[in-house]
Amino acid sequence: MNPIQLESFIKGIPKAELHLHIEGTFEPELMFEIARRNQISIPYQSVEELKKAYNFNNLQEFLDIYYAGASVLLHEQDFYDLTWAYLIKVQEQNLIHTEIFFDPQTHTDRGVSFDTVIQGIHTALEDGHKKLGISSRIIMCFLRHLDESAAFETLEQALPYKKWIIGVGLDSSEMGHPPSKFERVFSKAIANGFISVAHAGEEGPAEYVWEAINLLKVSRIDHGNRSIDDKQLIKHIAEKQIPLTVCPLSNLELKVVDDLKDHPLLQLMDSGLMVTLNSDDPAYFGGYMNENYIEIASALNLSKKQITELAKNSFISSFLLDDEKEQMIQKVETFYQNN
Ligand code: HPA
Ligand code: ZN
Repeated sequence: MNPIQLESFIKGIPKAELHLHIEGTFEPELMFEIARRNQISIPYQSVEELKKAYNFNNLQEFLDIYYAGASVLLHEQDFYDLTWAYLIKVQEQNLIHTEIFFDPQTHTDRGVSFDTVIQGIHTALEDGHKKLGISSRIIMCFLRHLDESAAFETLEQALPYKKWIIGVGLDSSEMGHPPSKFERVFSKAIANGFISVAHAGEEGPAEYVWEAINLLKVSRIDHGNRSIDDKQLIKHIAEKQIPLTVCPLSNLELKVVDDLKDHPLLQLMDSGLMVTLNSDDPAYFGGYMNENYIEIASALNLSKKQITELAKNSFISSFLLDDEKEQMIQKVETFYQNN
């Protein structure tokens, strides 16, 4: 496939996104606009200057800037505008379903109420469904660098909004904050009807992936790259078909891999794993879903069949209802047959 054919195939194929932090879709232009209307100053003179700061050596360097960016979000309208801007991208890129993370503690710790955050995001997603035909789910992440009691408090705040939130996740600084730290919170969340997922094996060891599976009872692993270091783990994930939400451009920008040609995606697929492609924090990592597909497909020379498998996996691994999944997978198959 030449690059033009590859791009047009990827742009056209229906896809779902399963690993996307809404705060990570905050484009600098919108950040400046919201900062101005909220009368908050940003320590950068211009969009260009801010973009120059997007040069990360590891996860923590990124997180420091990501949390600083999110700090200009104050009002329900801000969360609505952030989410709506992402949904426009979703529509342009032929994503027909998206499952988005949000980090309540990033906002509640600054005095913004849980209600303000969830109302803004939820209303935009409802409009996205009505006006753009995009289906979606919301997953609430606990910040793992904060303590267990803060996570319990956040879970309490979420309970009145349970009908809008399908699951709980775990993100932020991985090293030194193993899944085991949140075993009791996840257990309570599951008892309350939430599905669970967790970031594991992005920078942390394969052992953290085992913990996410055994202690947090996750339905998906976010990232999971380091699973490759443990043959038994790979065998287990393959047997149970626990999906991995892989994020190529994030891995490149955060130096999880030095080059996309060294990315473990194909090894994972060849080991029989249920792998999906995702954009993670697209405003910070230089690309949304299609850019992630295009960059990794060209680096690893993926075929149309492999790209189609990844697109189908995104629906299989989603938290859609079975009949919704089937309909969307059929759309992927029809596209593949005609292209
Ligand atoms: N890893 C951990 N925490 C995060 C990420 C990530 O890639 N993006 C936003 N929060
Ligand atoms: Zn992530």
